[in-house]
Amino acid sequence: MLIVNTIAELRQHLSAYKHPAFVPTMGNLHEGHLALVRQAKPLGDVLVVSIFVNRLQFLPHEDFDTYPRTWEADCSKLQDAGCDVLFAPSEQELYPEPQTFLVQPPAELADILEGHFRPGFFVGVCTVVMKLFACVQPRVAVFGQKDYQQLMMIRRMVRQFSLPIAVLGGATLRAPDGLALSSRNNYLSPVDRAEAVQLSQSLNTMAQALRAGALDIAALEQRAMADLTARGWQPDYLVVRRRADLQVPRADEVTPLAQNEDLVLLGAARIGNTRLIDNLEV
Ligand code: PAF
Repeated sequence: MLIVNTIAELRQHLSAYKHPAFVPTMGNLHEGHLALVRQAKPLGDVLVVSIFVNRLQFLPHEDFDTYPRTWEADCSKLQDAGCDVLFAPSEQELYPEPQTFLVQPPAELADILEGHFRPGFFVGVCTVVMKLFACVQPRVAVFGQKDYQQLMMIRRMVRQFSLPIAVLGGATLRAPDGLALSSRNNYLSPVDRAEAVQLSQSLNTMAQALRAGALDIAALEQRAMADLTARGWQPDYLVVRRRADLQVPRADEVTPLAQNEDLVLLGAARIGNTRLIDNLEV
């Protein structure tokens, strides 16, 4: 595996290839990331993974400074997973001057759900991904489905800017108890870790209620929020949305499960000091 830190080196090396496959990450890699790497590996003639903790997508009070940097372990995991080129630019390399040109996604996508609770997050994500795409010029890029809204946003960005990149989603990997793998799971205390699976269980309970014919979405969402709150969580949202645009479905779009394939359940909640997100397509 070749490790490159500059855009010039990266471009020089990739000039020998026609179909780079790409997995962007912020490091602190777990099995979920490695599954994306293995998924991407056969899709290109060279596989590039980036590690860059992107300041632009963190709010001032968020965990940019403390976000786990696990360089040695990440390198050896990527080597074993088949990464060909690890692109790890410094902040100075990727943002040599203040990034005043930004990718601004439309408010109806960027200001809801994650974007509502983390204002500016998707501007930061879209801007860095656009920039990484410009560096790597991949033909295919793989993003985790755990970040459902992010994946949808990147797909739209690629479509609207006519970028010649196929964007694929990688299935969410889960711990044996059902907790979605996430770099932020490392923050959980043992007690919170035992409780953390309740987020995905809440989504499962909502899915079962839909399957059983519950049609009052607002009531379903409120009950899920109240149940998590009663267990000591601070939920931001537990919602039923349309998969296509993450908007609230019309009443006639919610039917017993057999016809609910256009819906997704999305949740974000804080347990202790750790904010977790998850989703479930129904
Ligand atoms: O999902 C992530 O790890 C980040 O949001 C990404 C896509 C690497 C951009 O910084």
